[in-house]
Amino acid sequence: LDNGLALTPPMGWMSWQRFRCITDCDTYPDECISEQLFSRHADLLVSEGYAAAGYEYVIIDDCWLEKERDQKTNKLVPDRNRFPRGLNVLADHIHNKGLKFGLYQDYGTNTCAGYPGVINHMELDAQTFANWDVDYVKLDGCYANVSDMALGYPEFGRLLNSTGRPMVYSCSWPAYQSELNELPDFESLKKHCNLWRNWDDIDDSLESVMQIMDYFGKNQESMQQHGGPGHWNDPDMLILGNYGLSYDQSKLQMAIWAVLAAPLIMSNDLAYVRPEIKEILQNRDVIAVNQDPLGIQGRRLLLKNDIEVWRRPITPQTDGNEYSYAVAFVSRRTDGAPYSIKFTLKELSLKNKNGYAVKDLFDSNTNLGVFQSESYFSTRVIPNGVNFYKFTAL
Ligand code: GLA
Ligand code: GLA
Repeated sequence: LDNGLALTPPMGWMSWQRFRCITDCDTYPDECISEQLFSRHADLLVSEGYAAAGYEYVIIDDCWLEKERDQKTNKLVPDRNRFPRGLNVLADHIHNKGLKFGLYQDYGTNTCAGYPGVINHMELDAQTFANWDVDYVKLDGCYANVSDMALGYPEFGRLLNSTGRPMVYSCSWPAYQSELNELPDFESLKKHCNLWRNWDDIDDSLESVMQIMDYFGKNQESMQQHGGPGHWNDPDMLILGNYGLSYDQSKLQMAIWAVLAAPLIMSNDLAYVRPEIKEILQNRDVIAVNQDPLGIQGRRLLLKNDIEVWRRPITPQTDGNEYSYAVAFVSRRTDGAPYSIKFTLKELSLKNKNGYAVKDLFDSNTNLGVFQSESYFSTRVIPNGVNFYKFTAL
């Protein structure tokens, strides 16, 4: 969507994966979907250094609404107990922190958790979002006909645009098409949305991360070229900092999301992210790959013996326009010892005539030297692990 927004993949924090639809604030005061949760996370994004690393959007996912619209005006009403001061107060708090404010809604009659959706009140709701100073809208697709979405998603985008307030527009349309094995209309998505969820929801496990990797790997011929500045494929939230991933598996998700030019939207409790996981989330070199200005989405290049190589073209480019590359070596092996792999650079389609300077992206102190296209590059990857390198074209 050519609205000047999301020229690199959006970065931020969203409630769903960690906090789901917890609405019982008496029992879970620190976890329920409430003003306090989002204002606490806006504070933590800044105080814990995430904002300085680029994380910007604070996004309310499902379960923020009253079950009914206002009877007189038909306007959406934020839950009166959990957002007693309305959303403008929260938006101000988020903006005063230098951050941006995102909100979830649904194209259908109801959100996935059963709260009122936009379908019969699209113009009113778009204007209400603008009045609440919203900067980012995630429009889900539960309780809607998938066949209506080809008109509905562009239409809501137009209504957002005509409020005059710039809002990033995240469309879940293709995720619902993929359930029906329909091929998404990428030309329409690129024109009308800044990002779109391609597939199923992430869960808090390595298995889920790997299923998403497989979806992106298997469908890269149809998907990969459609990601780019202003319009991104979205493999869903970062789950680092929760319960499901080990330290090394956390690196794996971070590396692959960087290769995929994925939105980096964390969903965790930032007060409890352990320091070593925080370091991964804030790794400046990996974030720079994700945010590379060329905005070219990477691909799975090789897949053999449960070893995968993922590769993304990035800056700097040589005078002859050869790309540099971020290359992730992933092992899905579980046979214990680190697995040694060895490729010539040529086999990885790294053919720059002056070779590449290679650096470990998870260890900024390690320069591995210069490699030519005929040289062998070898690395050892631990089970369910990743080694992630930058090959800078010389
Ligand atoms: C869908 C979306 C999730 C989340 C939930 C909320 O499942 O894909 O990301 O927004 O709805 O109910
Ligand atoms: C090489 C491969 C292609 C494709 C691209 C992706 O050129 O030969 O099949 O995977 O890399 O960048």
